[in-house]
Amino acid sequence: MTAEIIDGKAFAATVRGQVAEHVAKLQAGHGITPGLAVVLVGEDPASQVYVRSKGKQTVEAGMASFEHKLDAATSESDLLALIERLNNDPQVHGILVQLPLPGHIDSDLVINSIDPAKDVDGFHISNVGLLGTGQKSMVPCTPLGCLMLLRDRHGSLSGMDAVVIGRSNIVGKPMAQLLLGDSCTVTIAHSRTRDLPAVTRRADIVVAAVGRPEMVTGDWIKPGATVIDVGINRIDAGEGKTRLVGDVHFDSAAAVAGAITPVPGGVGPMTIACLLANTVTACCRANGLPEPQGLTP
Ligand code: GUN
Repeated sequence: MTAEIIDGKAFAATVRGQVAEHVAKLQAGHGITPGLAVVLVGEDPASQVYVRSKGKQTVEAGMASFEHKLDAATSESDLLALIERLNNDPQVHGILVQLPLPGHIDSDLVINSIDPAKDVDGFHISNVGLLGTGQKSMVPCTPLGCLMLLRDRHGSLSGMDAVVIGRSNIVGKPMAQLLLGDSCTVTIAHSRTRDLPAVTRRADIVVAAVGRPEMVTGDWIKPGATVIDVGINRIDAGEGKTRLVGDVHFDSAAAVAGAITPVPGGVGPMTIACLLANTVTACCRANGLPEPQGLTP
């Protein structure tokens, strides 16, 4: 079997188009412009690239982008004071604090100081609890993007066996909750899981989010399974060059799977598209207006 390649780049462009359409309606009908504030502390190069990209795509969708770049030595109390201002700013509907934060700052404290209604990352403990109990919440962007890709391919996921490899708060755990919400039988596997290849081979859906380059190989995949690769790893490609690979060994997995996301061009573009979608959703909820359809679970 040769897998169908799931085009996350094209799907993300469609989602961004839907977001832009909804933004235009909010502006024309209600004079409201959704606004997203992104806070970056320090100079981590990867984080700088993400933040620039988020700002650009926010503006392209017709929304307001507020970037706050703070020095790496910024105190925790100054950061908390900024978040308090953003919580109270009616032009700001979504707040994202780029992670990781410098070591002297308590990330949990900072995330939990964001107004849950503006927590477009879905990391606030209230949103985690709401998602875990099947209530309306803000949903983390990367798992939401993965769910959209899976629903697009399969329609209903009901009764499918899903294995999520990785138990992070950002991807693994919320991904498992979303799949459970769609009536999958869900296994969360991780570095201590016994016989991980055998566990993964049972799955109709594999979501790999471990951060280990090309760890999941074709012999771990059930023929016809759908493989969603969340990993983004830069590896040495020889001659002083590097290349991006996922957590899945693409060629061997694609020879067995029914469908697979590539890296780059799979899950990555969906994350920012879902961030924009969450910002519009937050804006609609804040104003008591109907939410866009198909952009929330
Ligand atoms: N750092 C890596 N991924 C993310 C994300 O989804 N949200 C935030 N805030 N920081 C990140």
